[in-house]
Amino acid sequence: MPEDHFGEHVAETYEAKWPELFDPAVVDPAVSFLADLAGSGAALEFGVGTGRIALPLSGRGVRVRGIDLSPAMVARLRAKPGAENVAVVTGDFATTRVEGTFALVYLVRNTITNLTTQDEQVECFRNAAAHLEPGGCFVIENYVPELRRLPPGQTVHAFTVTPAHLGFEEYDVAAQIAYSHHYWVTGGQLETRSTPHRYVWPSELDLMARIAGMSLRERWADWAREPFTGDSRSHVSVWRKPARLTP
Ligand SMILES: C[S@@+](CC[C@H](N)C(=O)[O-])C[C@H]1O[C@@H](n2cnc3c(N)ncnc32)[C@H](O)[C@@H]1O
Repeated sequence: MPEDHFGEHVAETYEAKWPELFDPAVVDPAVSFLADLAGSGAALEFGVGTGRIALPLSGRGVRVRGIDLSPAMVARLRAKPGAENVAVVTGDFATTRVEGTFALVYLVRNTITNLTTQDEQVECFRNAAAHLEPGGCFVIENYVPELRRLPPGQTVHAFTVTPAHLGFEEYDVAAQIAYSHHYWVTGGQLETRSTPHRYVWPSELDLMARIAGMSLRERWADWAREPFTGDSRSHVSVWRKPARLTP
């Protein structure tokens, strides 16, 4: 079972530390994109967390279920209005099965990188495919690895530098792991957090999808469907499980 990096303190401060994620300008396009794909079918969120996306998606009339490793994050979800409509199973989304089949399985906010081996990431794709009905879609929102920003010989890239928050990644290129380090200053107190992530390019994800019997349907730079280009720093990718063949 992967390590749970979302304990009580992280869950308690998740919304305060990343308020921009809860901005309707960020949430609404994601929810609309996912609601369009789900149509009249059901959706399953891998790494559902505190319900940032699952709850508004459920509010749009989509039947949503979730899987998450962290009891603390799930407890936050369960305390929110509308949570009674989003059943959540505690477990690893690379291996945990929930009942039923889904038109849509989705995994947002770079969470595929929480699986720190290639095998686990492949299993995640297989697990998504196993939950999908024929013709169903698996969606991932992820960052494009920032290796091009590293000067030769350097392993550290700072992605947030403010008086209250220093965030930087430390790349181990041989292992394909980026350690994400965060230093926050809150009320004069220093708080730090470091987590390992297996960074992964879109092309490798396409191969994992193929191993799991799916193929790329569309790839965008963001939820608003901006074109994905060589300069894109993130992507929203949609893979599709083949429709059942009619005799
Ligand atoms: C960055 S948070 C995102 C939460 C939510 N999807 C959102 O967009 O706000 C990542 C979530 O994935 C969960 N998670 C990470 N690895 C997991 C795994 N292998 N299996 C299940 N959940 C996992 C964490 O517990 C956490 O709740």
